[in-house]
Amino acid sequence: MERIEDIGQMQQKADAYRRSGKRIGFVPTMGYLHEGHLSLMDEAKKDCDILVVSIFVNPAQFGPNEDYTTYPRDLFRDEALAESRGADIIFYPSAEAMYPHEQLAWVNVEKITDVLCGAQRPGHFRGVATVVTKLFNIVKPHLAVFGQKDAQQVAVIMKMTEDLNMDVQIRIAPVMREADGLAMSSRNIGLTPEDRKHALILSQVLFSIRDGIREGEEIEALLKMSRDRIASVPNVRLEYLETRTFPELEPLHTFSRDCLIAVAARFGKVRLIDNVLLKKT
Ligand code: PAJ
Repeated sequence: MERIEDIGQMQQKADAYRRSGKRIGFVPTMGYLHEGHLSLMDEAKKDCDILVVSIFVNPAQFGPNEDYTTYPRDLFRDEALAESRGADIIFYPSAEAMYPHEQLAWVNVEKITDVLCGAQRPGHFRGVATVVTKLFNIVKPHLAVFGQKDAQQVAVIMKMTEDLNMDVQIRIAPVMREADGLAMSSRNIGLTPEDRKHALILSQVLFSIRDGIREGEEIEALLKMSRDRIASVPNVRLEYLETRTFPELEPLHTFSRDCLIAVAARFGKVRLIDNVLLKKT
């Protein structure tokens, strides 16, 4: 496995792979890798010849009072993990290389970024869409894999590639969870032992809403009961618990279509998100 930090060198390498007929698979990450990230690598490896993993904590997607500086980082551990899952290249640019001057060109996906996390984190998805576009232009992948864990991000990336005719195939991989149900996240490391226990409420309410909807219960009643359950947990601040269509992210009050049940909450300084996608069969 090779580490590339230089953007031009990564582009040349990608061109050479493409000229020799190799299919490039890509997993963009912000590092501090866990089994969720690694499952995306397994997925990309299935039908690609070369696996590129990027590790870049993207300042453009963090708000001024968010955790950019405290976001966990461990390059050597990440390299060992990525190599163990067959990565060929770690692309690890600096913030100065990615944003050398004031950035004036931005990628903005409208409407679906006004809700859920987009409403809580102004500018976040502009930062995500822009950095993913930059990374696509640098790594030149045939296929890129994203996790359903960040359901709104998936919706944004799919709409961006469709509307801008980007020649990259997007594949979505399921949410990986700890044995007790907590969705894996690089941010889980920041939870105190108490909050780690309390954070279980998120997956618990998602699963019980899913089961209730399946059994024909009223969505609004299920949401209300679950919001009350979350409110009874110490040290938690609920940002949203909502049901929406996927990937259009329109409000959904009856189970007439595929239903995204999405939650975001803060435990102290740590912001966690989780979701379940319930298919209408
Ligand atoms: P990051 O949070 O590091 O996540 C990288 C990828 O791993 C995303 O596609 C995310 O959905 C996926 N992922 C995270 N936790 C997961 C889990 N428990 N199960 C399955 N997949 C999981 O998402 C980002 O970084 C950034 O926004 C990025 C796309 C890299 C742009 O900066």
